[in-house]
Amino acid sequence: MNTQPTYAFVAGASRGIGAGFARTLAERPGVERLFVAARKPDESDAIAALRNAHGERIVPVTLDIADADSVAAAAAAVAEHTDRLDWVLNTIGLLHAGDMQPERRLEDVDAGNIQRSFAVNAVGPLLLVKHLARLLPRREPCTVATLSARVGSISDNRLGGWYAYRAAKAAQNMLTKTLSIELARRYRKVRCVALHPGTVATDLSAPFRGNVGNDKLFDVAQSVNYLLTVLDQLDDDDNGKFFAWDGQEIPW
Ligand SMILES: NC(=O)c1ccc[n+]([C@@H]2O[C@H](COP(=O)([O-])OP(=O)(O)OC[C@H]3O[C@@H](n4cnc5c(N)ncnc54)[C@H](OP(=O)(O)O)[C@@H]3O)[C@@H](O)[C@H]2O)c1
Repeated sequence: MNTQPTYAFVAGASRGIGAGFARTLAERPGVERLFVAARKPDESDAIAALRNAHGERIVPVTLDIADADSVAAAAAAVAEHTDRLDWVLNTIGLLHAGDMQPERRLEDVDAGNIQRSFAVNAVGPLLLVKHLARLLPRREPCTVATLSARVGSISDNRLGGWYAYRAAKAAQNMLTKTLSIELARRYRKVRCVALHPGTVATDLSAPFRGNVGNDKLFDVAQSVNYLLTVLDQLDDDDNGKFFAWDGQEIPW
């Protein structure tokens, strides 16, 4: 059984699944400080609502995960408030934005879009832990979790397409696995995992969920509750694994 966090950090708290995590964690009485990171925290209704409801327990942090300097500055800002983080949760992800759309065929592949996807989905989440890791407790349980996607599983790829997102999520998975090995040498009870949230009704999935049945489409609160159940039950042996919302392990 995992330890409940006292100091938790959620990246991507402006909207979507990240905002859902922040809402639910803020309701947990044991959470003394909740760091909510976003590109523009002052413009997020979700973060404003949290601050209104929970006051100084909520600490907004400015973070553009595609900008290495911003990641370092965000970690430094957190360190001004605490010398300890029990949970580091990354929920940031990018599938589409304006002209950037998931590729349906080879002709759609664009080098710039692949690089952008890698920056947000794969490199940024690793840099985040690079800068925050020194706040993890060395001997007590701590959690480093990142939202990946089942489409990033190489062995589970049956449909093809979505080159940039699939590859960036596969890279995120490899970086998470590699990170889990190094972290475990320094932080004896770390649980560093990748998670698949299911198909969730957010802006990210909106254009692509036409064929998803109602029983397979989760709302944010549902997915967050499932994922928190997974996170709450993590054990030492779970470090370096990839879990779906229902606790099933996904092959890398
Ligand atoms: N929804 C699904 O069905 C589904 C399925 C499988 C996996 N996932 C994964 O779950 C995670 C959360 O997805 P979601 O559905 O909540 O997506 P979403 O609603 O589109 O939210 C994406 C979040 O990422 C943030 N973000 C994007 N680029 C950023 C950057 N450069 N720096 C900082 N923040 C950035 C956004 O912040 P802004 O408000 O600043 O844009 C927003 O908070 C992602 O990793 C996604 O790949 C989702």
